[in-house]
Amino acid sequence: MREKACVRIAVQSSWRLSERSLELFTRCGFEFDKRKRQLTWKAIGFPLEVMFIRHGDIPEYLIDGVCELAMVGTNALEEALLGAQLDPEGERGAQVLLPLGFGQCRLSLAMPRDAPYEGPASLAGKRLATSYPLLLRRWLDEQGVDAQAVAISGSVELAPSLGIADAISDLVSSGQTLESNGLVEVERVLDCETVLARTKKPVDSEREETIERVLQRVSGVRRASQRKYLMMHAPHAALDELRSLFPGMEQPTILPLGGDSDRYAVHAVTREDVFWETMERLKELGASSILVMPIEKIVD
Ligand code: PRP
Repeated sequence: MREKACVRIAVQSSWRLSERSLELFTRCGFEFDKRKRQLTWKAIGFPLEVMFIRHGDIPEYLIDGVCELAMVGTNALEEALLGAQLDPEGERGAQVLLPLGFGQCRLSLAMPRDAPYEGPASLAGKRLATSYPLLLRRWLDEQGVDAQAVAISGSVELAPSLGIADAISDLVSSGQTLESNGLVEVERVLDCETVLARTKKPVDSEREETIERVLQRVSGVRRASQRKYLMMHAPHAALDELRSLFPGMEQPTILPLGGDSDRYAVHAVTREDVFWETMERLKELGASSILVMPIEKIVD
């Protein structure tokens, strides 16, 4: 039988950055024929091929349709989309399908610790070093500030001490890199995270079907990780309110408990944040033996 044409999905080539993407593939049930030092891995029994690409290059591959899917940071994707001068009616471009729940960070503005800062107007006339000149330019324009974005590709935090910029705009996660380099975060330019994105270039129907299957698996794993399976015992009088406490999924399963005519076993799928918000109320309602369990996958 003819093999189906593979959908190509780009992930970051740096192991440190691609680790979470590869974990997600495993949770989605994809296994790969892994060859050392090979920059593409074919999935076993599924028409998917992973391409390991330098993070900054992934958006171009996606926009031009070299790969159909990518796991990419919104910082790199949005910067590339701003630079690609896309025709809104054209076929080049990329679309975010869903956030993947990791890679959260922010593109921030930071100043040397001893530099005065009283809001965006303090940046007027300053040189700002960044690897994201277009996102920074957009933010400066929104703020109505006339400053110069100096594009540099790495070790941005060094720019003020080297005298090549007055301030910087770079990605911040823990804030340690800024701190270690004598810089203070003063503005948040953009919140960023890793997303699953697809090309806007037309894809044949066979690959389109594969993209849909990948999306279903990824969103099933994502939804499961945001939800918990809850089991408890509760009195009959609490059942109506219990039903209303867990909105969004199907009705809870309610079964009479053997040997106790007033108490029931209640099983429900709940969002983790809803569970923590409602735990005290559950106890007030007389719920006991409350068990909360992780869910592997949710398939509708
Ligand atoms: C990013 C970013 C900062 C650092 C911030 O670099 O460019 O340098 O992380 O992280 P922190 O706030 O937790 O200290 P990364 O290490 O990803 O490598 P890069 O220089 O290749 O972008």
